[in-house]
Amino acid sequence: MRKKITIIGAGNVGASTAQLIAKEGLADVVLYDIAEGMPQGKALDIAEACPLWGSSVSVKGTNKYSDTKDSDIVVITAGFPRKPHMSRDDLLHANADVVKAASEAIAKTSPNAIIIVVTNPMDAMAQLVWKTTEFSCRRVMGMGAVLDAARFRTFLAWELNVSPEDIEAMLLGGHGDQMVPLPRFTTVKGVPVTEIMKKNRIDLLIQRTRSGGAEIVHLLKTGSAYYAPAAATYQMIRSILLDEKRLLPCAAYLNGEYGVKDLYVGVPVILGKEGVEKVFEIKLSKEEKAQFRESCSAVRKLVKKLAI
Ligand code: NAI
Ligand code: 2OP
Repeated sequence: MRKKITIIGAGNVGASTAQLIAKEGLADVVLYDIAEGMPQGKALDIAEACPLWGSSVSVKGTNKYSDTKDSDIVVITAGFPRKPHMSRDDLLHANADVVKAASEAIAKTSPNAIIIVVTNPMDAMAQLVWKTTEFSCRRVMGMGAVLDAARFRTFLAWELNVSPEDIEAMLLGGHGDQMVPLPRFTTVKGVPVTEIMKKNRIDLLIQRTRSGGAEIVHLLKTGSAYYAPAAATYQMIRSILLDEKRLLPCAAYLNGEYGVKDLYVGVPVILGKEGVEKVFEIKLSKEEKAQFRESCSAVRKLVKKLAI
């Protein structure tokens, strides 16, 4: 039997993710949204593209949680995107209500699912989903650092005039302004960028990566990025569903790893059929540790505001 993936929130990120899953024929997809007709319309449109893609998966849009029953993976993208002059953190309370309600419904209808949280502020939302569902922390994670690393790779590739495919980037911390790109562990075919680029150029690209989400919000004016976020979410889904065991930076629950306790924050993890199968610890320098601590404090402040 084919696997089933539910996407909660059929907006820009949700529908784009559904499109990638359907195009690759990875699993049957259910698109759930509160807006009436919209998830049905988008699902129908994607289903009608399947013959052209040579894909035979089923794509269904719905306003009923019963249709999402027994999903293998659930992706939460429901909520509000930021507008110009808003930070991801400004979305905290509005999105917490949406994400809590979705978590309660998922816990009832898909008790064995693995959940990928996308809704911002993502790290705090992942913690909320984990608390609300009471699922094992291995089955709840957040997407943010895969996207941030892809942005860093893109900017480095442009700077060095090489294919972005040949750049591997490592990044830690919350999916927020205090994210911690790690140039020491960022390489062009194995060669650290610190050996081939001047520090001031690397710092500029780190800054552009940190404000990569805001750069797109300012250009779009009416929403935030969705093509790259959907591609990043798809990479995580694929690693889980096909048990690829990719080493990807994701928001994962830390219980002592990296010296952090009881917090969801971005770290490299191995993603496989069990979800987060291992938190991969790398030895950080003093400066990297300090930046990571600062990023964790920013996430913890948000979690405290949620009082969960
Ligand atoms: P969007 O506005 O296009 O879509 C959001 C959808 O959620 C809408 O269709 C809306 O009807 C739906 N929705 C609202 N309340 C709902 C509920 N109670 N149940 C089900 N659906 C509900 O927004 P977009 O661009 O898709 O972004 C979604 C979220 O993802 C935002 O919070 C955004 O900030 C976040 N995001 C996070 C990224 C990350 O890297 N973690 C990257 C990109 C976006
Ligand atoms: C981004 O980084 C909005 O978090 C989203 O584009």
